[in-house]
Amino acid sequence: MSELTVAIAKGRILDSFRILWEGSIGHWPIPNTSRQLWFPPTEQSPGMLIARARDIATLVALGVADVGVVGLDVLREYPTPDVLEVADLAISQCRVVIAGTHTDWPQGPVRIATKYPRIAGSFLNQHQIAGELVSLSGSLELAPVLGLASYIIDIVDTGRTLQEHDLFEVSTIMASSARLIANPAHFYTKPEVQEFRDRMVCIRKGEPYANC
Ligand code: ATP
Ligand code: PRP
Repeated sequence: MSELTVAIAKGRILDSFRILWEGSIGHWPIPNTSRQLWFPPTEQSPGMLIARARDIATLVALGVADVGVVGLDVLREYPTPDVLEVADLAISQCRVVIAGTHTDWPQGPVRIATKYPRIAGSFLNQHQIAGELVSLSGSLELAPVLGLASYIIDIVDTGRTLQEHDLFEVSTIMASSARLIANPAHFYTKPEVQEFRDRMVCIRKGEPYANC
C-alpha cells in the first residue's frame, strides 16, 4: 500500500475508522498514545495523516493525501468542489437535527445556536424560518439551558445529550456518516486509489478481508 496516503479526521472519525480497520485489515499503524500526526507508508499500510475534520477535503483537493475520511456533515458545511465522494463508510453515523425546548416548529423570529451555520442557513431559507443564527463551536445544548437560543442545530446520535438537557428533536435536517473522498486526478490515474476504495467498500459490506 506504499503508494497511498490517507488523511483521517481526528476524534470520533479516527476512532471508528480504527475499529473498522482493525476488525478487517488488522494491523493499525498508529500507536494508542502517539502524538504524531504523520505515519509513513509501510508494507502493510498506507501513509496516514491525522488532521482537523474541516481540513481533510483541502488536503485531498491539493493532493497532499490521495484519499480522506471525514463526516458528510463537515463536507456539507465546508464544501470543497475539488474532491470526489467515492464511498459511504457507514461509520460515525449520526444526524444533524433542529432541536428545542419543545417539539414545535419555530414560529416567528427565533434564535438558533449551531456549529453548522451553512447547513442551518439553508435549512432556514428552505423553510422560510426567520431565524437568527448564533455560532458556537461546541456544547450547543447549553444554549437553550442558558436562555441564549430557543433552538439548536446540532448532531444527534443516541439522543442522550438532548435528553439530559430536556431538549426535543423538532426535525432531522440530514443524516451523516463518514465518507471516503478522493483527489479526482489521483482517483483516475493511480490504480491504488481505486483499489483502496474498492477494498473499503468490500470491508464495509462485511466481506472477509481475504475476499476484498
Ligand atoms: P472538531 O473538534 O473538529 O470541532 P468535532 O468535535 O465535531 O470536531 P467529533 O466529535 O470527533 O469532532 O466528531 C467528528 C464527526 O463524527 C462529526 O463530524 C460527525 O460526522 C460525527 N459525530 C459527531 N458527534 C457524533 C456522535 N455523538 N455520534 C456519532 N457521530 C458523531
Ligand atoms: C456531539 C454532539 C452532541 C452529542 C450527541 O457532541 O454535538 O452534543 O455528540 O450525541 P448523543 O446524541 O449520542 O448524545 P460532542 O461529544 O462531539 O461534543 P461537542 O459539544 O464538543 O461537539
